[in-house]
Amino acid sequence: MNKVTVKTIQKIKDAGEKFSVLTAYDYSTAKYIDEAGVDIILIGDSLAMVALGYDTTHCIGVDEMRIFTRAVARGVNRAMVVTDMPFMSYHANISDAILNCGEMIRNGANAVKIEGYSDYILQLIQRLTESGIPVMGHLGFTPQFLNTLGGYKIQGKTTEATEEILNQAKRLEDAGVFSIVLEMVPQDSAKYISENLRVPTISCGAGKFCSAQVLVSDDVFGKYSEFKPKFARKYGDMKSLILDCAKRFDSDVKTGKFPSDEEVF
Ligand code: KIV
Repeated sequence: MNKVTVKTIQKIKDAGEKFSVLTAYDYSTAKYIDEAGVDIILIGDSLAMVALGYDTTHCIGVDEMRIFTRAVARGVNRAMVVTDMPFMSYHANISDAILNCGEMIRNGANAVKIEGYSDYILQLIQRLTESGIPVMGHLGFTPQFLNTLGGYKIQGKTTEATEEILNQAKRLEDAGVFSIVLEMVPQDSAKYISENLRVPTISCGAGKFCSAQVLVSDDVFGKYSEFKPKFARKYGDMKSLILDCAKRFDSDVKTGKFPSDEEVF
């Protein structure tokens, strides 16, 4: 078992192969996802919505991400563990941002993900990589910018917008990111962007031409039922499984079938 590192990820891209990324927020889910062979496990700030029940990803901070990072990291042996830096944890100033990102590494992450593009973000990426903290970039639709983007909107729909994302991606690459998530970008745009970068791109609803695909595990397992993005594929029905188990337990307790003689001391 070889631990997945930034070097592994780059080798996969250079060989024209694919890697997989799933989110996880707790110890046992992370353990099983790791056992299944998924290459990167992301403690996404999507946890605010799917695990904590908030309406947006804005509602969590460094304290929560630290706890979930520690839980996931304890379950993982092979996959690379990446923590999503939450809203406002890296915008106030470079020093606080570096300390907040460093906290995630101290709690078991192997890298951090930060959203967006600006001169400030470029400087931050450079300082983080110089400090030994690998950074995954995130362009296209960036959920932390929901209010400025004006909703869940596809990005990079025109030639100009695609060129703009490519330009941003190239500058993130020069600043030192080891990979870039492209979220809700049309497949052809993502293909063009990916073909013109050295680092791998990770599609989150950006089609099949990226080096990797990322999905929120609660969508993949069929656990989160409030909303399913068009690009998410449901591989199971955990909601039904949980409902079924909970109903049978409830019934067994109320009818005296649980516990049995074998289940008592
Ligand atoms: O928060 C998250 O889970 C993410 C991925 C879906 C890319 O940012």
